[in-house]
Amino acid sequence: MNVLVIGGGGREHTLCWKLNQSEECHNLFAAPGNAGTAKCATNLPLSITDFEGIKEATIQHKVDLVIVGPEEPLVMGIHDYFLSDKDLSHVGVIGPQKAAATLEGSKAFAKEFMFRHQIPTAFYAEFTAASISEGEAYLEKTNPPYVLKADGLAAGKGVVILEDLEEAKKELRRMLLGEKFGSASSKVVIEEFLSGIELSCFVLTDGESYITLPMAKDYKRVGEGDTGLNTGGMGAISPVPFVTESFRKEIEKKIIQPTIMGLKKDGMPYKGFVFIGLIKVGDEPKVIEYNVRLGDPETEVVLPRLKTDLLSLLIAVQQGRLAEVKLEIDPNVAATVMAVSEGYPESYEKGKQIIGLENTEMVFHAGTIAEGDNILTNGGRVLAASSFGKNFNEAVEKSFKTLEKIHFEGMYYRKDIGFDL
Ligand code: AMP
Ligand code: GLY
Repeated sequence: MNVLVIGGGGREHTLCWKLNQSEECHNLFAAPGNAGTAKCATNLPLSITDFEGIKEATIQHKVDLVIVGPEEPLVMGIHDYFLSDKDLSHVGVIGPQKAAATLEGSKAFAKEFMFRHQIPTAFYAEFTAASISEGEAYLEKTNPPYVLKADGLAAGKGVVILEDLEEAKKELRRMLLGEKFGSASSKVVIEEFLSGIELSCFVLTDGESYITLPMAKDYKRVGEGDTGLNTGGMGAISPVPFVTESFRKEIEKKIIQPTIMGLKKDGMPYKGFVFIGLIKVGDEPKVIEYNVRLGDPETEVVLPRLKTDLLSLLIAVQQGRLAEVKLEIDPNVAATVMAVSEGYPESYEKGKQIIGLENTEMVFHAGTIAEGDNILTNGGRVLAASSFGKNFNEAVEKSFKTLEKIHFEGMYYRKDIGFDL
């Protein structure tokens, strides 16, 4: 079988690395990929939203299965595009159709879905430019911290949490009047603040049945001790020690089952990964957000722990046979530590030469590009060093040892991933 992975980050390198281990995987392609995917797949220089280009490549390379890494093409309807084109409708796509992808594409849509299906989440209200004064009045009635969310996709930056009422009102205006996040914030969700510890839950579904992948926790802040600005993720661990068997059952019963049933009841076909961002409030799991893809860098710890062949899992999803599949997980713990460019998540430079990658294992490329024989930095997050261990300390230490061998100008990583466990 020929497989095409859409995307070019650490998640997609990990997907390619894992798919490449499958006997059923004949030719593997990544679009656009990076210097890491180039080692285990053929990179195709295509943008993730260039549907025409992806169509041509799919036909030319006789691709049988397309795995969509990032949310943007899904929210734009890449799966529907494949289904509606007679030259592509035989090709399997892993990732939901546009209707269900709206769970990530619109926060208001996701909230309505959760309330309709009684899935525990924060209380909320939604406002548009026409209802700014109602929004301000709503803020006055509620208690700080104030959680304001741009409704649409805002590259992970659309959530603002503020303590001060006047600041919150100003922010609401900025968002609704399009000065911030453009049209993504033409609608704003104001949400109850939830206090607790967050975790990432990944579910793979064929629309009928589902399997739950190992839980993971990511470290979003740039600074040690969870301080400083939010990033795409500075590291991750799996499993999550505070997810006991009884808490896992709660998540399954109150969140995963109603989510999968809700998609079905609402007539929203879903073949792919559901990423449920959870928060543990007291002993209760609540949903912070849905994403319609795998998380990054969580993928860099979740997929290495998968003993079941990934491609056969995805073929089962495509064929609606997921109920027959048994998942096998490595009991070892996995950690990943992200090396980032100096300045990230604010402005940073690209094009720094990376040295010391030889003789390293499970170093997933997040933002790299090959130039001749050299590998250069090509993003804020550059490399994710993943490791296994009997416990978190051992795994994280191994990742640090790996990163000590690697160098690029301005390289930075957190030396405390897993510190709170
Ligand atoms: P999201 O993009 O919805 O995942 O939000 C980004 C981050 O904002 C989350 O990972 C949380 O840390 C925080 N956040 C979002 N919603 C809430 C909430 N209702 N209460 C507290 N923190 C939140
Ligand atoms: N690590 C969080 C995300 O992928 O959105």
